[in-house]
Amino acid sequence: MTSPHEFAIPFNHSSGIGRELDYITEALRGGQIAGDQAFTQRCQGLLEQALHVPKALLTTSCTHALELAALLLDLQPGDQVIVPSFTFVSTINAFVLRGAWPVFTDIRPDTFNMDEAQVERLVTPRTKAIVPVHYAGVGCEMDVIMDVASRHGIAVVEDNAHGLFGSYKGRKLGTFGNFSAQSFHETKNFTCGEGGALLLNDARYVERAEILREKGTNRSRFFRGQVDKYTWVDIGSSYVMSDVLAAFLYGQLEVWQQIQRKRRSIWEYYDHHLGDWARERDIRRPVVPPHCDQAYHMYYLLLPTQDLRSALIEHLKKRGILAVFHYLPLHLSVMGQKFGGKPGACPVTEDVSERLLRLPFYNTLSESQQETVVAALLEF
Ligand SMILES: Cc1ncc(COP(=O)(O)O)c(C=O)c1O
Repeated sequence: MTSPHEFAIPFNHSSGIGRELDYITEALRGGQIAGDQAFTQRCQGLLEQALHVPKALLTTSCTHALELAALLLDLQPGDQVIVPSFTFVSTINAFVLRGAWPVFTDIRPDTFNMDEAQVERLVTPRTKAIVPVHYAGVGCEMDVIMDVASRHGIAVVEDNAHGLFGSYKGRKLGTFGNFSAQSFHETKNFTCGEGGALLLNDARYVERAEILREKGTNRSRFFRGQVDKYTWVDIGSSYVMSDVLAAFLYGQLEVWQQIQRKRRSIWEYYDHHLGDWARERDIRRPVVPPHCDQAYHMYYLLLPTQDLRSALIEHLKKRGILAVFHYLPLHLSVMGQKFGGKPGACPVTEDVSERLLRLPFYNTLSESQQETVVAALLEF
């Protein structure tokens, strides 16, 4: 396998964009770099204000935010959770860890989001949650998903790893479900290396979420002076992000509009320059429905066949450009098959997974690098 470092134009490259290093220095000077210090509060406050959610809690990853959501839902062994097969393993594993049974849905052929038309058929008396993933930062059909969930009394947990600051019908992604999980992993629009956040749209869960995130203790209440010592009050684990990472993250989040403007221009450059070439070769570009303001998380192409995708990856690799495929169908993975996943069960997922290719996309990708990528594609 070739290392990503060998590419002149890698698929992803993380970098500071604003005052990240100043803020890390400030955090160190303050002498308190465990969790829930000044920068954590600043990041959480910013997310709460920008998204209009009652509470945001920084976590060590999106995976851990999803685990917290699963804990808050008090899932019991045998409870069912409706999930897309076309996603990252954590979308499902967080619930499987609690003993839940994943029920796989296929995706829509246009946006590659959970096919909302299939969801209601999969509901049973044991269904406890629906977990939409806003693929590439384009919103799932939340009107339909929320309607099914409310009629059947089922929770919704949005996996919003790709979708921060995107919106669906004018409302920000991550603000529909009872909970939503954000990722600040290095591959995301805003990063601190590894990190995440749980957004709580229902204030009734806030106190318990604080406890579960803090090893099952009421330490947050202690910090607020609401109790005079803190103690073990519930189950829990260690999901609090260090303030050093929160300081880095704040440097990114405070310039979120600037980062999104840059990502939009990267996305539009690809889309504009590849339009004719793609049309002539029956290569499909991303579909963004008019009622979705996307989060500009990635740019992908859907090749006509798997062989052409492999050939294009090779072609780009020879020119020093790393383009990569994406999720393998989880219903066909070793674990997915243990939950009854069978070939043909999610045909769109199986097909798209073989043909999708993601192009280099990161905040410091320059126009001349994009020109190189586009020129290499046009040669193909
Ligand atoms: C849809 C989705 N959910 C969850 C995750 C997990 O994020 P993290 O690495 O922050 O745990 C990812 C990671 O890429 C993802 O793509």
